[in-house]
Amino acid sequence: MTVVHSEAGVFGRSHELSARAHEQVVFCEDDRSGLKAIIAIHSTALGPALGGTRFHPYADESAALQDVLRLSWGMTYKAAAAGVDLGGGKAVIIGDPATQKSEELLAAYARFVETLGGRYITAGDVGTNTDDLDVIGQHTRHVTGRSVAAGGSGDSARLTALGVFHAMRAGAESVWGAPTLAGRTVGIEGVGKVGRELTALLLADGAEVCVADVNEAALHRIADEQPAVRLLSTVATAPVDVYAPCAMGATLTASSAAAIEATLICGAANNQLATPAVEQALTGRGITWVPDFVANGGGLIQVAGELRTAAPAEIDDEVAEIYPRCREIIAAAKAEGIGTGAAANRFAERRLDAIPGRCA
Ligand SMILES: NC(=O)c1ccc[n+]([C@@H]2O[C@H](COP(=O)([O-])OP(=O)(O)OC[C@H]3O[C@@H](n4cnc5c(N)ncnc54)[C@H](O)[C@@H]3O)[C@@H](O)[C@H]2O)c1
Repeated sequence: MTVVHSEAGVFGRSHELSARAHEQVVFCEDDRSGLKAIIAIHSTALGPALGGTRFHPYADESAALQDVLRLSWGMTYKAAAAGVDLGGGKAVIIGDPATQKSEELLAAYARFVETLGGRYITAGDVGTNTDDLDVIGQHTRHVTGRSVAAGGSGDSARLTALGVFHAMRAGAESVWGAPTLAGRTVGIEGVGKVGRELTALLLADGAEVCVADVNEAALHRIADEQPAVRLLSTVATAPVDVYAPCAMGATLTASSAAAIEATLICGAANNQLATPAVEQALTGRGITWVPDFVANGGGLIQVAGELRTAAPAEIDDEVAEIYPRCREIIAAAKAEGIGTGAAANRFAERRLDAIPGRCA
């Protein structure tokens, strides 16, 4: 049992809670299905808070709370940077999706989402897929990313990967002078939904791709789909030109930053920096990091388009805007002698600052 010291109070029970000023945090529990979930609404300043549902076997409830608070805060910045009229939110379901996911549990979760009346709109994330969102959509109106057959825009992995590819092109232009990965070696960590799509885009661009994944089945699948890829035990510290984290966050630590051989880091994983100080370590070693929340905004742009029933071609064009956006951020960082993360935060805050009484 976690003991909360009375001096800390509920709002001070974690650094994330006291520092980031979330609008609302909802703890959801359903004994019958075994559901334990947390929905965090960081900000609705730009619109309803949208963010995916992560289904993950967290070590403990504090780790789940910290994750959902950080991720929902990041969604506020991601939406602002992506230019969509949405706020920042996220949800986590605590448990192993392989053994604990059931229709009953997803339905119970969806009913909690519905109680928020549209202040929070859910979507997919690690551990949830379009099938799950179709089930969730039977119990709440506030869901995006359902299958096309169920009235949604389908899995967001393709457009997330396309956005990461555009972001990587901007990084390549800054580092090597041309917006292409042709002739470069890219190491992709995690060949799940996004990593697989990114692999195909990079191979088509003429890159050499190597991949690592903790899941043997994922490695077999990519080897079958793309015989040209090399399978490695790890890519983070391998001799590659680009390191693309596409699995879990916080892989950029003080020790990994010292060992990374890549000159460019750009991937889909959320919250790649374990601590803000890691960014300085990367900059100090001459490594360009394309901030995750700008690079991986393609999926968010897709579901924002779904909400306003935009045409697919219009959404693809909006995802392509990630390229000039990343160019601008990297150029501003260089010109001002600051990290790309700080430059990206400033880029997003320009939009948030324009809102009276903003909550971010
Ligand atoms: N799917 C989207 O549209 C989207 C949008 C924005 C951000 N993201 C982020 O991108 C990342 C990938 O998303 P996804 O949808 O492809 O998830 P996914 O669950 O489909 O794939 C993740 C893959 O990473 C592998 N993996 C896990 N831990 C690993 C490790 N330590 N080393 C190597 N591989 C590991 C898993 O086995 C899996 O194959 C996540 O961090 C997610 O939050 C996804």
